[in-house]
Amino acid sequence: MRDFDAVIFDLDGVICFTDEYHYQAWKAMADGLGVYFDRKINNRLRGVSRMESLDIVLENYHGELSEAEKNELADQKNELYKKLLARMSPADLSEEVKTTLDELRRRGYLLAIGSSSKNAPFILRQIGLGEYFDAVSDGNHITRSKPDPEVFEKAAKMLLTDAGRCLVVEDAVSGAEAAHRGGMRCACVGDAASAGAGDVNLKSVKELLEILP
Ligand code: BG6
Ligand code: MG
Repeated sequence: MRDFDAVIFDLDGVICFTDEYHYQAWKAMADGLGVYFDRKINNRLRGVSRMESLDIVLENYHGELSEAEKNELADQKNELYKKLLARMSPADLSEEVKTTLDELRRRGYLLAIGSSSKNAPFILRQIGLGEYFDAVSDGNHITRSKPDPEVFEKAAKMLLTDAGRCLVVEDAVSGAEAAHRGGMRCACVGDAASAGAGDVNLKSVKELLEILP
C-alpha cells in the first residue's frame, strides 16, 4: 500500500514564485517607512499571515503605531503586491511544476492547496490553475496561520482524507511545523529545505515524483 493518498501544496514559493513579489512589496513598504528590511527577515514571513508579517517587519520600527495605522500599512503592502500579481499569467507556472502536478494526478493522488494567503484564489486564476485542485484551503478559511495546522487540517477535511495520509509540500519553516503539528509529513523545498525542516528535503518540486510512486 502507498504511504499517501493526497498531496497538499503550499502556494507562495512552491507552486509559483510569488514569494519574490511578497519580498518586493514588503521592501517597498519598509523603505517608505525608513525601516530596515532584508531577505533574511523576509524568510521569517514565509507562511505567516499578513498582519503577523507586518509585526515582524515592524520589529525594526522604533515608534508607536495605532491599529488603524498598521492596517493602513498592511493595505499599502497588499496593494503593491496585487499590482505585481496582476502581471502574472499562465506563463508564470513553470513547466516543471505543471508536469509534476499532472503526473501526480495521473498516479491517482488527490491534490490540494494549503496557503495562508487571502490572495490565493486570485493567484491560482492568474496562473491558469483556478479550477485545477481538488481542494483549496487558504487565508480566507482560517483564523490561525502557520505554524498552526488549521489550514492543512481544513484541506484534509475538504479532501475527506485523514491527516496521516497527506503529504504537505512547503518552502516555509512555519509551514513544515504546521504540517507536523497536524500529524502530517512534510516534503520541503527552498528555504525550509535549506533549514532541514522537512521529513524529506528536496532540491526541486519534481523530486516528488521519486518519492511518490
Ligand atoms: C503566505 C506567504 O503564503 O501568505 C506569506 O508565505 C504571506 O509570506 C501570507 O504573508 C499571507 O498572504 P496575503 O496574500 O494574504 O497577504
Ligand atoms: Mg510558501
